[in-house]
Amino acid sequence: MNRTTLIENGYDCWLGYKQIEDEVRREDALRVSSRYAIIGESPLLRTAGKELAVALSAMLGHVELGHLSERQEGKQGGIVVAGVYGSSPVFEPLAEVYDFAGLGEEGYIIHSSEEGGRIYLCAASDKGVLYAVFHFIRLLQTGQRLEGLRIREVPRNGLRMINHWDNMDGSVERGYAGGSIFYKDGRFIEDKSRIRDYARLLASTAINAVSINNVNVHRQESKLITDEFLPDVAVVAGIFREYGIRLYLSVNYASTIEIGGMATADPLDAEVAAWWKQAAADIYRYIPDFGGFVVKADSEFRPGPFTYGRNHADGANMLADAIAPFGGDVIWRCFVYNCLQDWRDRKTDRARAAYDHFMPLDGEFRDNVMLQIKNGPMDFQVREPVSPLFGGMTKTNQLLELQIAQEYTGQQRHLCYLIPQWKEVYDFDTHACGERSTVGEIASGRLFGRERGGIAAVSNIGDDLNWCGHVLAQANWYGYARLAWNPDLSAEQIASEWIRMTFGLDEDLERVILDMLLGSYSIYESYTAPLGVGWMVNPNHHYGPNVDGYEYSKWGTYHYADRVGMGVDRTVHTGTGYVGQYHAPVAESYESLADCPDELLLFFHHVPYLHVLQSGKTVIQHIYDTHFEGAEQAAELLAKWDSLASKVDSGRFKHVRERLAHQAEHACEWRDMINTYFYRKSGIADEQDRLIY
Ligand code: GCU
Repeated sequence: MNRTTLIENGYDCWLGYKQIEDEVRREDALRVSSRYAIIGESPLLRTAGKELAVALSAMLGHVELGHLSERQEGKQGGIVVAGVYGSSPVFEPLAEVYDFAGLGEEGYIIHSSEEGGRIYLCAASDKGVLYAVFHFIRLLQTGQRLEGLRIREVPRNGLRMINHWDNMDGSVERGYAGGSIFYKDGRFIEDKSRIRDYARLLASTAINAVSINNVNVHRQESKLITDEFLPDVAVVAGIFREYGIRLYLSVNYASTIEIGGMATADPLDAEVAAWWKQAAADIYRYIPDFGGFVVKADSEFRPGPFTYGRNHADGANMLADAIAPFGGDVIWRCFVYNCLQDWRDRKTDRARAAYDHFMPLDGEFRDNVMLQIKNGPMDFQVREPVSPLFGGMTKTNQLLELQIAQEYTGQQRHLCYLIPQWKEVYDFDTHACGERSTVGEIASGRLFGRERGGIAAVSNIGDDLNWCGHVLAQANWYGYARLAWNPDLSAEQIASEWIRMTFGLDEDLERVILDMLLGSYSIYESYTAPLGVGWMVNPNHHYGPNVDGYEYSKWGTYHYADRVGMGVDRTVHTGTGYVGQYHAPVAESYESLADCPDELLLFFHHVPYLHVLQSGKTVIQHIYDTHFEGAEQAAELLAKWDSLASKVDSGRFKHVRERLAHQAEHACEWRDMINTYFYRKSGIADEQDRLIY
């Protein structure tokens, strides 16, 4: 496929470099970057050089590999010089301006020389240089001025990870963009070129870790840590390595039984521990920089230490000890709850579970264990409060887990730009150590002085030509990574960056897509589950409205809607006590019916339909209004996109149009199902007398 095709079918994502059309801008860019020089030799620097060459030649039409001396020989045109600080005297003067010591392994500097003839891309390591190169390319793509650059970037999160839920049969759990790019029919895919293209896209946004198989580790995937598959895993790890990305595997907690031929997986059993030590040694023989294990244990029927009367610290530490000598980590998930709650039991509360299980173990985990905590206490609903575990544990490494895959947020058929939701999570103030104890500060490790920390997220990519099923869903993938690097970026900044890189620099186009993206989360929320109640989806596949889908299923995720009212009482005084897991003043505000934020009201309280919200509306009227408005706004998304017909290539235009048309129609189904359900339950009419079936 040629370059244009790759851009127009969405394959190139935000790296579809196009010639800069504006001549003045192109001339300006050529003045400083018609040549480039990479100083030094390493696989990462080679990647950086390759990328710079591809980008500059595509955007500027002409680029040469330069030599630093050429400038003195009077050659025309500026030069981009990239390399590791200390590897050449050319970078020495930068030390007068910047603090190199604080750059760490991944930070970098982008600096234009005073007289304008040079741009330095410099870092303390070759990985930082690669990131600087991609940043510089981004400046070109987004039309920034290249004079006077004084950029110093250091990531705020050490680990910036993507979790794949790929199975070796080629399927992807909660995958909405086709099959796996890694596996097919129980084996690795022979042709690894797509994995390379993927690694390149990840590196361009500074993702530095990836786990390549589902957290639900079935029999075949359990064997990924054996000689049968390690040679393949090593090849994939090698590809990621060239892009500065470490590979992790999800492991089956009961591997000793599943593939080890043993009778137990008791973490305190010496033979079990010895088996894992050997397994770790085998892995590191193949992959010396292997990142470590991701573990889902004692969750949704997966095995774990509970079987042996042990706790999660016992389980995690046993694995951590096995892998520590090689420099690996254990990422242990906190998604642990009783998934078979009975409706008569009003005290058990899934929302409480992670905190109840893990809080008592705070401080008992090894230094190379990170606990991976979903953003909310339930499961990636469109609206949930933030997990109280973040403000709870202070002596344990924590990772924030987000879901880029749009499981409950429209499955990449609905437009739902998730960055605003994630910003709320990052910025949520737990008050664990007074004000500004945000989740972002906790996850990064800074608040509690932890050495390890960061962000992980469930991938939204598959083998669809455009990776994400919905071209506009690429913005979530891109935005996740950008936010992990710098949580201070705004949802708008990230969106506009992504739009420019993906669709070019037309201002009208940018305005329209920006408006669509930024409005989409709230639109999606308004025509789906109201006021934080969640779960009104079809069970199993989780797509489309079904108010009672989970109300009468064994999975027991209830909203308790009856003819009087709805919602879950999670207060300390009369409910499940979940609210007590938060610090003051958050707990007070959730506990109080008057102060609880409207958008979370039904998560924390059971109220009559005529309860008046802070907005002044009753709950029932809020439901009607948001559902009518939401469906209208979904239709407007389509109209807005249609206004771009002449500005977007026909490939991407038609594809997105088809998705938005479905969304508009499906939003009406949501509206009608939800409104009709609550009208019939409550018997209360819509004040505006609109059509409710
Ligand atoms: C959700 C999701 C599952 C997944 C689980 C998890 O429940 O629907 O597919 O396995 O989360 O995060 O482990």
